[in-house]
Amino acid sequence: MSDFEKTFDIIFGRWKSQILYAGVKLGIIDCLTSDSKEVSEIAKKLVLDESLLYRLLRALGSLGFVLEESGHKFSISSQGKLLKKDHIQTLQGILLLEEGPEHYQIWKHLPTMIRDGKQNAFFKEYGCNLFEYVYKNTEYSQIFNEAMTSYSKLHTNMILEALASYDFSKISHICDIGGGHGFLLCNLLSKYFHMKGTLLELESVISNKELLWASKMGLEDRCNYEVGDMFKQVPYADAYTLKMILHDWNDEECIKILSNIHTSSSNDAKIFIIEHIVTNPETPHFSKLFDIHMMCALSGRERTIEEFSSIFEQSGWKHVKTHYPHSGIIGVIEGIKK
Ligand SMILES: C[S@@+](CC[C@H](N)C(=O)[O-])C[C@H]1O[C@@H](n2cnc3c(N)ncnc32)[C@H](O)[C@@H]1O
Repeated sequence: MSDFEKTFDIIFGRWKSQILYAGVKLGIIDCLTSDSKEVSEIAKKLVLDESLLYRLLRALGSLGFVLEESGHKFSISSQGKLLKKDHIQTLQGILLLEEGPEHYQIWKHLPTMIRDGKQNAFFKEYGCNLFEYVYKNTEYSQIFNEAMTSYSKLHTNMILEALASYDFSKISHICDIGGGHGFLLCNLLSKYFHMKGTLLELESVISNKELLWASKMGLEDRCNYEVGDMFKQVPYADAYTLKMILHDWNDEECIKILSNIHTSSSNDAKIFIIEHIVTNPETPHFSKLFDIHMMCALSGRERTIEEFSSIFEQSGWKHVKTHYPHSGIIGVIEGIKK
């Protein structure tokens, strides 16, 4: 692509993601199969306006998510299948959160935040921190937690790949801090049979037992869900994982979380921080975009390895190694007690 084409594509990026959002939000993507359906049939089933639905489907076709045949007939494409709820690595949850109304609204504050030197547009827009909003708003809470599982489905294989040669035999009890519904923890437990696991979460996230992966994966005897606040106290364990946790918080808040883990853990404890790690200045990376989202959404940021080493140092930990999967999208920063 030429510079002109690349720029043009970026200017209209939001149009594309909003077209896709509407297609998923209205249930159109989930309704389509590999056998083509007439627009009138889809409109009737989903109670939508047939003529406007046709135009949306045509645009989705232009983006590659559906296939259009003559006679206003549509079927799902292989790219479209990635957005279906039941796809094994579904991206549906991520799309519904990141293009949904709450996250859409916060981006408009970006220029002002940078002018004023004050981040966290979520607070400015909704008058409370994102996690308080999750607690208060049932619909957003469901979307947020599904998105976290969607992210975890994407990341878990990468983490297992990055840690494939790591010796887990010395770890008997692993704790996932802010582990959502437990997709990552349960996948670690099902790969390493000798370990037991504890997941620390806010009550609202783990109160509905039906959503938890330990029961879905038959791991209830080795996986314990504990309600708590990582800023106050964390459970005892000999290894800890924190995936997409530190990026939510500023350095001072991260040091508090890491210090609490340091206090509660065994003498030879290990820590694994999983994040989108900011690369060197010459290398474009998704972390540099996610960092702007964190500027809008919370008090956090994405960090370089040096920045992680510094908060480790200030909370009693020492950075020993960074493990990357082949894709390099995320990395696992390993620490031990100093
Ligand atoms: C960005 S999400 C990451 C979830 C999960 N680790 C993942 O990667 O899919 C942050 C998680 O931290 C949890 N959390 C926020 N504040 C917390 C606190 N004070 N104590 C424990 N968990 C907390 C949230 O409920 C949420 O599930």
